[in-house]
Amino acid sequence: MDAIECINTRYSCRNYRTQPVPRALLEQLVDAGRRAPSGRKEEPVEFIVATRQADRDFLAKISTAGKFIAQAGACIVVIARDTTYYLEDGAAAVENALLAATALGLQSCWVAGDKKTYAGDILRHFGVPAGFKLVAMLAIGYASSPCRQPPHRPLAEVLHWEQF
Ligand SMILES: Cc1cc2nc3c(=O)[nH]c(=O)nc-3n(C[C@H](O)[C@H](O)[C@H](O)COP(=O)(O)O)c2cc1C
Repeated sequence: MDAIECINTRYSCRNYRTQPVPRALLEQLVDAGRRAPSGRKEEPVEFIVATRQADRDFLAKISTAGKFIAQAGACIVVIARDTTYYLEDGAAAVENALLAATALGLQSCWVAGDKKTYAGDILRHFGVPAGFKLVAMLAIGYASSPCRQPPHRPLAEVLHWEQF
């Protein structure tokens, strides 16, 4: 799969069957995340890979729209030091990891973290030191039933040549 095909075929999956994701694949996702662009090359982003059922149950329970994390084989908790560009850096890392998941035949879904009221509780749960933000939680695993890519806004609606 080339990069364009990967971008074009990624979609969010919200139904998983409980099946572990091999560590080597999870490592590849984090490896893709760490290679993302970073403002001033500060590289503030770090990744906590949660595979234990108890931790995924905790994340599923606390998140408002991430109940499926309990069934997904893994959840990558993306955090970043609170730098000027932590959110841009974090988002770039997340997208890299999601695309890598698609390329490796895994399903994924970005679950909101930044600015959520539960962010602090999640950081505390995983023993994250002060000075870090929760960027996102990435459900990673294998679909229990087929998921489909939703329609996106058409190119002609979002593309402006030269001026708005
Ligand atoms: C910042 C952000 C937060 C998101 N949070 C959630 C979430 O909490 N739960 C969820 O099911 N999907 C979440 N998503 C996934 C979006 O709903 C999804 O990307 C969007 O509907 C487009 O679908 P697609 O990813 O299949 O293209 C989030 C996506 C982003 C970028």
